[in-house]
Amino acid sequence: MSDGAPAILVRDLRKSYDGHEAVRGLDFEVAHGEVFGLLGPNGAGKTTTVEILEGFRERTSGIVSVLGFDPGERPRELRERIGIVLQSCGIYRHIRVAEAVRHFAGLYPAPRDPDEVIAIVGLDAKRDALARTLSGGQLRRLDLALALVGDPELVFLDEPTTGFDPAARRSAWETIRRLQELGKTVLLTTHYLDEAQALCDRVAIVKDGRILAEGPPAELGSTAARYRVTWSDEHGEPQSREVDDPTALLHQLTSAALARGKPLSDLSVTRPTLEDVYLDLTAQAGDAAEQGENAAEQAEEVR
Ligand SMILES: Nc1ncnc2c1ncn2[C@@H]1O[C@H](COP(=O)(O)OP(=O)(O)OP(=O)(O)O)[C@@H](O)[C@H]1O
Ligand SMILES: [Mg+2]
Repeated sequence: MSDGAPAILVRDLRKSYDGHEAVRGLDFEVAHGEVFGLLGPNGAGKTTTVEILEGFRERTSGIVSVLGFDPGERPRELRERIGIVLQSCGIYRHIRVAEAVRHFAGLYPAPRDPDEVIAIVGLDAKRDALARTLSGGQLRRLDLALALVGDPELVFLDEPTTGFDPAARRSAWETIRRLQELGKTVLLTTHYLDEAQALCDRVAIVKDGRILAEGPPAELGSTAARYRVTWSDEHGEPQSREVDDPTALLHQLTSAALARGKPLSDLSVTRPTLEDVYLDLTAQAGDAAEQGENAAEQAEEVR
């Protein structure tokens, strides 16, 4: 499949809703076989971007290429090659789980076995249940089944595990890893930073329609990635220090403890997690002009 061109290419993508610019010049690429995550606060423009790539929303401007197609033209071949979990779904509430999966399988040229997909998402016990009787997390599993049954080469997952219990989330992670092992490309959005860290080869952190940072989760913000060393001093008071290299500090602390003949309690050495970097970046990027605009909008709503 891979001719060197990326699976997804986005250049200076913009989208305005009635004068409100929700996406303000996004640039990114997703390689074939890559799991790419879009992270960002509510309203950052993630769903807007994903749905433009899926062909469900029109863009205002910019270049978008998905598997070599312009999704804005809604080409049939592209529809057959992608699988989608929308952020909110609800078109199939009145049919049964197995019927829904079989129906979707019929829309694709080379689908997977519907029963196998039902088993993968853990809905065996609910296969004859009406979709509308499923719990929130079970419905989300059905969404995932419908995205996978066509055996697509590119899968869009907009908050695929929201509402999942911890075990279901882990099993969804396994499913996504299996997709990756099969060489599929995945674009996902999530508010769970552990999920992004566990699954994504690269992530982009988006706020107010712009990318603030992009890269492998472990490398993001690595310039700011100092070590934090915490311990309790000889009086039992908690202490904390941030350092670039903890070697000397640890030597000093352990030597002092040995000299006192007392254990060094509550010692920990940590690096910032993706969550720390995310919170730091998204807090810093509070654009004053934008905040003014939001305040004006809110005042408008109150009136
Ligand atoms: N159909 C629409 N009409 C008008 N404004 C919209 C529409 N869809 C989204 N918006 C606005 O565009 C901005 C981005 O919304 P979007 O749904 O893309 O955010 P998101 O990053 O997916 O957020 P969340 O994490 O809450 O899902 C928001 O300010 C939202 O209010
Ligand atoms: Mg969204």
